[in-house]
Amino acid sequence: MSESMQGLHRTCRCTELDESYIGKEVTMMGWVQKSRNKGGLVFTDLRDRSGLLQIIFEESECGSEVFEKAGKLRSEFVIAVTGVVRGRGKDANKEMKTGSIEISAKSLRILAESDVPPFPIEDGIKTKEDIRLQYRYLDLRRPELAKKIMTRAKITHLIRNFMSENGFLEIETPTLIKSTPEGARDYLVPSRIHPGAFYALPQSPQLLKQLLMVSGFDRYFQIARCYRDEDLRADRQPEFTQVDMELSFVDQDDVMEVNERLLKYLFKEVCNVDIELPIKRMKWIDAMNSYGSDKPDMRFDMLLQDVTETVKDCGFGVFANCAKEGGVIKGLNVKGQAGMPRKHIDKYTELVKEYGAKGLAYLAVNEDGTYKSSFAKFMTEDELENLVSAMNGEPGDLLVFVSDTKKQVVWDALGSLRLKLGADLDLIDRKSWKFLWVTEFPMFEWSDELGRYQAMHHPFTMPMEEDLPLVDTDQGAVRAKAYDIVLNGTELGGGSVRIHQGDVQKKMLEKLGFTPERADEQFGFLMKAFKYGVPPHAGLAYGLDRLAMWMVGSDSIRDVIAFPKIKDGSDPMMDAPAPVFDEQQLKDLHIAVVKDEEE
Ligand code: AMO
Ligand code: AMP
Repeated sequence: MSESMQGLHRTCRCTELDESYIGKEVTMMGWVQKSRNKGGLVFTDLRDRSGLLQIIFEESECGSEVFEKAGKLRSEFVIAVTGVVRGRGKDANKEMKTGSIEISAKSLRILAESDVPPFPIEDGIKTKEDIRLQYRYLDLRRPELAKKIMTRAKITHLIRNFMSENGFLEIETPTLIKSTPEGARDYLVPSRIHPGAFYALPQSPQLLKQLLMVSGFDRYFQIARCYRDEDLRADRQPEFTQVDMELSFVDQDDVMEVNERLLKYLFKEVCNVDIELPIKRMKWIDAMNSYGSDKPDMRFDMLLQDVTETVKDCGFGVFANCAKEGGVIKGLNVKGQAGMPRKHIDKYTELVKEYGAKGLAYLAVNEDGTYKSSFAKFMTEDELENLVSAMNGEPGDLLVFVSDTKKQVVWDALGSLRLKLGADLDLIDRKSWKFLWVTEFPMFEWSDELGRYQAMHHPFTMPMEEDLPLVDTDQGAVRAKAYDIVLNGTELGGGSVRIHQGDVQKKMLEKLGFTPERADEQFGFLMKAFKYGVPPHAGLAYGLDRLAMWMVGSDSIRDVIAFPKIKDGSDPMMDAPAPVFDEQQLKDLHIAVVKDEEE
């Protein structure tokens, strides 16, 4: 039976009590972690979001009625206890923050009883995540998860502090809008009033923040909810949060400068980590060539090395032909792994094939100077020696190679293999924090699917001024004033300097395959606004979930989102998405559901 809390007032949270309260009467409220009767004494651990506190029910102190009630306490009952704080002296429990005190209970109210929870409310449980997500509200009671959510709240709070101290205004933008150009699929919301018309949920506040610059707010930020209908991964959710910002009268360096200070402040306050400024910068092309990735994980070496020149005339047809066709051959030197079993090499070969590579050629340099290799028989001794030396190979090393006529395939294949080897061979320094700005992204990327170029960042990104003449002659070579901030191989955030000149914007849209009509239909409101005095502006957005994930030391963003979605985009707790309750809802929205034929 549940009792009321009327007339009671909670003194403080469990771990806010300390020895200074000894002798005082307090009222504590929370959940029963566990309660056990030890012959005439009931020991109860009380839990709230701050931690645990021991309560003792002793019949001589609390009377038989309270003592009997205490005997009925079960895990997860919600209780209110009034009692006196006592020191535990030599019985202190050093494992508990409040281990030097306890409450000698005088009265007890059971505010709510609880069914037996589907899993224990404690750290380190092995319960599958799908069950935990179904009962997310219980999972969130577990200290390890609760702490992460609380740290995220602290991060958000610190961001707001920093931004407002640096002259940024927090302005909310709508979430029922027109499609934004971030390149993912939109979530659509049907309009009841306008039959057949839809709002799009924002993939980001991109166009709206640019309009705020036109309005003159000159420094804006927002903790903004964004929606993207794309395939999920450990660091991707269909709805996620950005720390979004835009600044007027600035260039790339100004945006980077303020963001470096923001990151330094956050990591010091939350993780006690000192970030060394300025953060290293790397051009996109160098990142791709050396790491096979536009978000290099710099916590370990093993860089991609180009051996095209070395092998272009060698006897191994795969390499020589590839070089003749204008392709590239790159390799990784896997230090000290000459003895890697064939089975493992086969597994890595399968991995590179997933990225489009046709194979993985390998050359193990044995300690005695001989080779074990999938292609050595096609090469002369000299050719092999040159290759080994080009790779800085030493006895004991395993050299692996991918060749392809498409650079992107070689980058993707070896970039992924590098990360997999880094993890499998335990090469990653897990204690280090490697921040990096990646700059000079290509403006355009070729899409085989569309058969034309598309914007790598978004269509409002400013090309590098010196590359403007290339827009007509060598589109693929145009670099953009775009930048990503990378941490330990994750893209934390990205941004760019925006185009603020009408003629440049018009040209870019044309080059991206927008007809004037389509450009007008999709972005006409922005183009119109830009006719009325638009300041030069630039901005950036972080994935707050990703930032928080790193700061709390998790490897999934689900850990820092109170109610996340699972892989198929559904919410197993609320059971969303779901069919409508009432067909009338669909009628009101002028929607007819058409089932796929195979269903
Ligand atoms: P971008 O598309 O790079 O840029 O997004 C910015 C950052 O948002 C995070 N992010 C995500 N996090 C979780 N789940 C997702 N599905 C997801 N998608 C993106 C990433 C990413 O770096 N308007 C531009 C920013 C700008 O130009 O100012 C934008 O949205 O950490
Ligand atoms: P094959 O000639 O198919 O027997 O291949 C000989 C070796 O070269 C095998 O180890 C293949 O995995 C590897 N290989 C084949 N194609 C490529 C390629 N494009 N790049 C790198 N290695 C390759």
